[in-house]
Amino acid sequence: MVADSGFTMDIIIKECRDVFQGISSLIDVAGGLGGASQAISKAFPHVECSVLDLPHVVASAPAGTDVKYIAGDMFQSIPPANVVFLKWVMHDWGDTECVKILRNCKKAIPPRDQGGKVVIFDMVVGAGTSDLKHIETQVLFDLFIMFINGAERDEQGWKKIIYEAGFSDYKIIPVVGVRSIIEVYP
Ligand SMILES: C[S@@+](CC[C@H](N)C(=O)[O-])C[C@H]1O[C@@H](n2cnc3c(N)ncnc32)[C@H](O)[C@@H]1O
Repeated sequence: MVADSGFTMDIIIKECRDVFQGISSLIDVAGGLGGASQAISKAFPHVECSVLDLPHVVASAPAGTDVKYIAGDMFQSIPPANVVFLKWVMHDWGDTECVKILRNCKKAIPPRDQGGKVVIFDMVVGAGTSDLKHIETQVLFDLFIMFINGAERDEQGWKKIIYEAGFSDYKIIPVVGVRSIIEVYP
């Protein structure tokens, strides 16, 4: 996952700079060893970046970075921040679990007029380019993720869980390969 972040975060930061402008703190929920947070922290040094992950993951976190690591469970609570970031996490879970995660995200962020939002980096089936390679990649991921009872979602699938969790609006920005940024607003 750190290698994946090394590849994708450079593209996200270049193509979607606006997504991270004007924020003061960000929590990377289920952020693993923090590859994504380290990239955000390097590109936006004024943003206070933290990673929330399970205790055994945080125990292996690298030392000497600007990122703060917090041991916890996203199904229990998420520490407060301007922005919650979720990279390649939601497709691991079914709708019920995703709604629980999103509700905890909503509790962690300020209202929209104070800059609160959730930024999801994940697959949106059908978004962006629709050539054969993209369709094949989406189908392969869909099959793979079914093995762990997760789900690849199209826009309707995302809309359903976003509104069920109490958010008011969202914006999909196709950014790299089959993956998009989804900005979700309280
Ligand atoms: C597919 S990895 C994604 C890691 C990271 N977001 C990235 O893209 O590099 C999923 C992560 O979810 C974490 N995770 C699973 N259950 C969790 C929970 N209940 N609370 C917090 N993190 C959890 C795992 O430990 C793992 O690091």
